[in-house]
Amino acid sequence: MRVVRAYAPASLANFAVGFDIIGAAIQGMGDEVTLEKAEDGVKITSISGDATIPMNPEKNTAGKALLEFIELNNLEYGFNMSIKKGIPLASGLGGSAASAVAATIAADRLSGLKLSKETLLRISLSGELISSGSVHTDNVAPSLYGGITVSLKDKNQNYIIQKIPSLTSLKMVMIHPHLEISTKEARDILRQDVPLNLHVQQSMNLAAFIISVYTAQIDLLKKTFDDLIIEPQRASLIPDFSQIKSVCQNSGAIGCSISGAGPTMFAVCDNAEVTQKIESSLKELKTSVKLDVWTTNIDTIGARILEVKS
Ligand code: HSE
Repeated sequence: MRVVRAYAPASLANFAVGFDIIGAAIQGMGDEVTLEKAEDGVKITSISGDATIPMNPEKNTAGKALLEFIELNNLEYGFNMSIKKGIPLASGLGGSAASAVAATIAADRLSGLKLSKETLLRISLSGELISSGSVHTDNVAPSLYGGITVSLKDKNQNYIIQKIPSLTSLKMVMIHPHLEISTKEARDILRQDVPLNLHVQQSMNLAAFIISVYTAQIDLLKKTFDDLIIEPQRASLIPDFSQIKSVCQNSGAIGCSISGAGPTMFAVCDNAEVTQKIESSLKELKTSVKLDVWTTNIDTIGARILEVKS
């Protein structure tokens, strides 16, 4: 085979209750990568779509993942890559992760190596380090595996990714204010210590989330869907945060919070009446920054190969 085209979906990290742990892939938005074998190294031949990202592979998350792929597998060839960005930059929708994941699965198919998901995850994560200055798995994991994922590490710091039920009834209203927030900066403002009472309540909320999705208890989710630790520290980065959240809550959302490091926000809902009400109420809301608002579902498939040409 000569050319492989791959897609990886956008993702919503943290899911309010699981900072750096829970993530969900979302339908209808993602990045595409087309890869062909080259003599050596990695060359980014084109980048199209709604984002300005570096052409230098060392500074590009997908490029970095491919360099890691070549080194880890001692490949005697390289790759030419073109990237089609469908995810806005620094939006909190996991764009850097999606490009890296799409590049990694394309390289895996092109090389015929059929690496394990865990290895593909590790390779994709090498891109995340350059984009946010830290390795967090809650965008790469859902983008690669699909669905809602829980990212864990064992006692030896090996990653364990667990896909959990997606509660197919859940719908997400995504609210994207037209501004960029650097993940690194949104992480740098976080305090490093957490009061014990908040830690306990947030652990309860995380436990309740996992129980809710396994037992399809929407009521339990509604009563406990609250980020007590990260959201209060990041809310001020997003203009009109409280008004937007109030609209979602008053319209009957299960909950509303920040997608990843923001500025995108999301409202979790369990029926189309509520999502429509949120969409129409947000259209009426006067905000200082333009909002894109749309409703989507969880993408249970995750990264996939779109085309193989020989
Ligand atoms: N868990 C990460 C954060 C996700 O919130 O900083 C960044 O997309």
